[in-house]
Amino acid sequence: MRCVNLDLGPRSYPIHVGDGAQRVLVPLLEARPRGARLAVIADAHVAELHLDSLLAALGPSPLVLTVPPGEASKSLASAENLYDALAAARIERDDVIVSFGGGMVGDLAGFVAATWLRGIDFIQVPTTLLAAVDAAVGGKTGVNHRAGKNLIGAFYQPAAVIVDIDFLTTLPQRDFVAGLAESVKHALVREAHFLDWQEAHADAVLARGPVMLEELIARNCEIKAEVVGRDEREQHLRAVLNYGHTIGHAIEHVLEYELRHGECVALGMLAENHISCARGLLERAAAGRVAGLLMRLGLPARLPRAIDARDILRASQMDKKVRGGAPNFVLLTKPGETTRVADVSEVEIVAALDALQPT
Ligand SMILES: NC(=O)c1ccc[n+]([C@@H]2O[C@H](COP(=O)([O-])OP(=O)(O)OC[C@H]3O[C@@H](n4cnc5c(N)ncnc54)[C@H](O)[C@@H]3O)[C@@H](O)[C@H]2O)c1
Ligand SMILES: [Zn+2]
Repeated sequence: MRCVNLDLGPRSYPIHVGDGAQRVLVPLLEARPRGARLAVIADAHVAELHLDSLLAALGPSPLVLTVPPGEASKSLASAENLYDALAAARIERDDVIVSFGGGMVGDLAGFVAATWLRGIDFIQVPTTLLAAVDAAVGGKTGVNHRAGKNLIGAFYQPAAVIVDIDFLTTLPQRDFVAGLAESVKHALVREAHFLDWQEAHADAVLARGPVMLEELIARNCEIKAEVVGRDEREQHLRAVLNYGHTIGHAIEHVLEYELRHGECVALGMLAENHISCARGLLERAAAGRVAGLLMRLGLPARLPRAIDARDILRASQMDKKVRGGAPNFVLLTKPGETTRVADVSEVEIVAALDALQPT
C-alpha cells in the first residue's frame, strides 16, 4: 500500500493507494466525533457491484444514496435530490459524506459536501482509473450547466482519498483506457521521465496487474499532489493540468457526452499539439511520439463523427479558462514543459480539428 500526502497546511490529506485500501476507512471514521454518521453517495452501477464490500468495511448502516450512472447525473437537479435526502436523514455538520464511484459521482458528491450546511467533511473513494489518477485528488468539485461543463462548482478538499485497487477490477477496458489519457497528460505537463516509464510499461499497464496499477496511480497522485499543493486554486501552476482540456471539454460538450472524458482529453491533446507544431513551439517528432503512445494505449485518434469547428469554437468560449472572451490554452513545448497562450485564432482551431475529423 502506498500513501501520498497532499500538503495544504491544515487542510492536508492522505491519498491511500493499494489492494484492500478501503480498510483505512475504519480508523479514519473512528477518529470522528462520537455519533458522527456517514452518508455514502454512490454511482448506482458501482453500488450494485461493490457496495456490499464497502459496507462491510464501514460497519453500522450508513445512509446510502445512489445516482444513475452517466454524466447527465452531474447536475444541479441531482444535487437537489441529494440535499432532499440529506435533509430527510438530518445529516449534520459532524457527519461525513463518502463518494463512491468515478469522477462523475466524485465531482457531484464533493459539490454537495461543499455546499450542504456550508460544507461538511467528505472522503473520496474513486472506483475508476480516471478518478483515481486525477478527479478524486485536488478538490475541484462541481456540476455541469447546459451552457458548458463544470460551470458550477467549488474548490473543496476531501479529508482523505482512498483508492482500493480491488474496486477497479470490474472497470470496463474502455473506461480504464480513458483514465490513461490523464496519466499521459500528467507526464507531459510535469514529468518527462514518467512518459518514458509509460512507454516502457504500456503493455503491463494495459494488463492491469495490481502492482503495476498501484505504481501508476501513486505516481499520478504524486504529480497532482505536488501541483495542487503549490497552487490549490489555479492561480498559476495548476493551469498546466488543463492541457488538452480547452479543446477536449469543447469536444465533450459538442458530442453531448457520447465520448468518455478521458477520450476527449486525448483528442484535445492531439488537437492542441497540432496548434503547437503549427506555431513551431513543438517538434513534430515529439507530437508523433505522444500520438503513438495514445494510440498504443487504445485512445481515439479521430472524432467518432464529423463536427463543425464553429461549434467547438463556441463551446471553448464558454470554458472556465476564458479570460476577456479569449480561451486560454496550455500548449506543449516538449515533454515535461508547457507554455500558456491566449491568442489562439479561429483558423488555428479549425486546422487542428480538421486533423481529427473522421476519414
Ligand atoms: N474534479 C476533477 O479534478 C476532475 C478531473 C478529471 C475529470 N473530472 C470529471 O470526472 C468525470 C469523468 O470521470 P470518470 O471517467 O470516472 O467517469 P464516470 O464517473 O462517469 O464513470 C465511468 C463509467 O464507469 C462506471 N464505473 C465506475 N467505477 C466502476 C467500476 N469499478 N466497475 C465498473 N464500472 C464502473 C460508471 O458507472 C460509469 O458508467 C467527468 O465528469 C469529468 O469532468 C473531474
Ligand atoms: Zn480531465
